[in-house]
Amino acid sequence: MSLHANPAESALCNPAYLSVNNIEVIYDHVILVLKGISLQVPQGKIVALLGANGAGKSTTLKAISTLLKNERGDITKGDITFQGQRVDHLTPNELVRRGLSQVMEGRHCFGHLSVEENLLTGAYTRNLSRAGLKEALEKVYHYFPRLRERRQSQAGYTSGGEQQMCAIGRALMAKPSMILLDEPSMGIAPQLVEEIFEIVKSLNVQENVSFLLAEQNTNIALRYADFGYILENGRVVMEGDAKDLSSNEDVKEFYLGVSGAGRKSFRDMKFYRRRKRWLA
Ligand SMILES: Nc1ncnc2c1ncn2[C@@H]1O[C@H](COP(=O)(O)OP(=O)(O)O)[C@@H](O)[C@H]1O
Ligand SMILES: [Mg+2]
Repeated sequence: MSLHANPAESALCNPAYLSVNNIEVIYDHVILVLKGISLQVPQGKIVALLGANGAGKSTTLKAISTLLKNERGDITKGDITFQGQRVDHLTPNELVRRGLSQVMEGRHCFGHLSVEENLLTGAYTRNLSRAGLKEALEKVYHYFPRLRERRQSQAGYTSGGEQQMCAIGRALMAKPSMILLDEPSMGIAPQLVEEIFEIVKSLNVQENVSFLLAEQNTNIALRYADFGYILENGRVVMEGDAKDLSSNEDVKEFYLGVSGAGRKSFRDMKFYRRRKRWLA
């Protein structure tokens, strides 16, 4: 079921438009994980990719950032375009140069380096002068004041939230126009999760960075996103404007856990009956 008339239409003339077209992904030549996923991210928007653990969110992001090859994964059908050009055959570095960066699940920082050294590694594609690097760092510290405070600390000894900020800050050092952000809320104290989403929103509004945001935390993701896709077992089962999704009865019941009966399991039989209704 689609709650949205045609999200593609408004974005067609948009240069940073990301379009994933009916992709199928297979791991190890035999494990079919994505079964024809299509999604769009218009420039300047935050799009949420939602779904339970194992639904295929990370695989989708890795397919876009061409990191699948490292995990013996292949796109066996479909294609991906960014700014109107096919990108599924580029290397991750080429993609970063074109403005598309990924922050992987699990807030990857170099634990033995300081926060600032971690950030500096993010600028490797840019060939910046000393002054340019300083300016790029200042911009990151402007959005993440906590990182400025912790700049000399060894990243491995900072909190989970600070490491997540460090990973996002590192991606920002490449001056991306779009960031693929994988589960920023995972394992982080609720207050810091809110802080991180606020920063994501201000980067979106003030720097015009578009985001494709994978999240199991449907509630917070829909509060900050413009549009959402719900993934189940390698397929998009629902998509729509974030506001429509968060007020949709099925989404409330199965993904937001706000129905009278409390949170239900995604594997609940009733859910599957309803899902058939969405897919009909
Ligand atoms: N490298 C891999 N090799 C084989 N199967 C994988 C690999 N990575 C993920 N999978 C499988 O693909 C499915 C989707 O995983 P993933 O994309 O990580 O989902 P999510 O990010 O939504 O939790 C899961 O069933 C997972 O076990
Ligand atoms: Mg994941």
